Amino acid sequence: MLTSRRGFLRSLGTGAAAGIAMPWRSVGPAAFIFDSPPLPQEGDFIRLYSNENAYGPSTKVANAIKSSLGGVNRYPRMEYASLTERIASFHHVKPEQILLGCGSTEILRMAAFAFLGSGKQLIQALPTFEAIEHYARAAGADDIPVHLTPNFSHDLNAMLARATESTTLVYICNPNNPTASLTPRKELEDFIGKLPASTYVVIDEAYHHYVGRSATYASFIDNPLHDARVIVARTFSKIYALAGLRLGYAVAAPNVVQQMRKFATEDNINAIVTQATAAALDDTDQVNESIQRNTDDRQEFFNHAMLRSLKPIDSHTNFVMMNTFHPADQIIQDFRKNKILIGRRFPAMETYVRISLGRPEEMQAFWRVWDTLPYLKDIAGH
Ligand SMILES: Cc1ncc(COP(=O)(O)O)c(C=O)c1O
Repeated sequence: MLTSRRGFLRSLGTGAAAGIAMPWRSVGPAAFIFDSPPLPQEGDFIRLYSNENAYGPSTKVANAIKSSLGGVNRYPRMEYASLTERIASFHHVKPEQILLGCGSTEILRMAAFAFLGSGKQLIQALPTFEAIEHYARAAGADDIPVHLTPNFSHDLNAMLARATESTTLVYICNPNNPTASLTPRKELEDFIGKLPASTYVVIDEAYHHYVGRSATYASFIDNPLHDARVIVARTFSKIYALAGLRLGYAVAAPNVVQQMRKFATEDNINAIVTQATAAALDDTDQVNESIQRNTDDRQEFFNHAMLRSLKPIDSHTNFVMMNTFHPADQIIQDFRKNKILIGRRFPAMETYVRISLGRPEEMQAFWRVWDTLPYLKDIAGH
């Protein structure tokens, strides 16, 4: 795998920019969330498109995964309870406040089905992570998208203006995917305080660890509002590098957890992830190294962007969004022809591309391809 990727990187350096038609296989049930691109059936693509942790889990976590293999013939029901307790003690909350999900995507699904339905409304930003919007529609609710402000934070005044008694759920992704931008904590507190009493608020903190020091950011888990309408979603898919094992969780009031749990898939947690995530929570060195590495990789990306007079949106995550003043579709396709997958289309920001940060050699390949695309040379003057 590694050898062929190295070989491939070398071949990129020698100008392998010709179109390569790749066969695609259909993807599983969650594919409706993503309009592109499906997983390649074969070939060795550089994946800068799903905001994963490109470096993988630590040795301690990998060992926990190996040692859990002997238990895969059992339903992990006892482990469900112990992992719930572990996460609760990690966040200094009661176990009744923790709800586990098959990725935080399942948390979003549970929230949509618990709090939305026919005649009810979800308010969310445009663009933002789309999963909850799809689940809201599946639950029969209306979806009200509200454009981000010009500086890419949630337009909380505009969201508030759209909120009515029927608005039973608001989704706030902070930092926001795909823009990598922050919405100030103080403004969020004022906003939540002014929402109708019957409106629940999901704060999605999938990218929490990547924020770094910021006077305007504070997690709603670390600094809770003590408002029973607030549900915080977290995931093991990003900083902990376990996207393929699928574990997310919510921290919420016990009665909210109970309401949401009714919509959980029975036995939604697997026998491997229970042990892997416990090890990941213990491995604080890995988390700190991952944060530092991401800070370095992000800085390197911005250095490259500056060299080319590009102006990406300030990033508080492990990905970067940038205006190319050119249809994103074409750029995505041209990178794909060069065996690099970059973030999907975001119709509300048609000329922006989202690039997940990869390993240094992968990012070098990215910039090499960037420099071969003639139409991208002209955008520096904008
Ligand atoms: C903001 C946000 N929330 C949730 C998810 C889903 O993560 P998980 O892998 O935990 O389902 C993602 C995935 O990219 C995301 O960007």
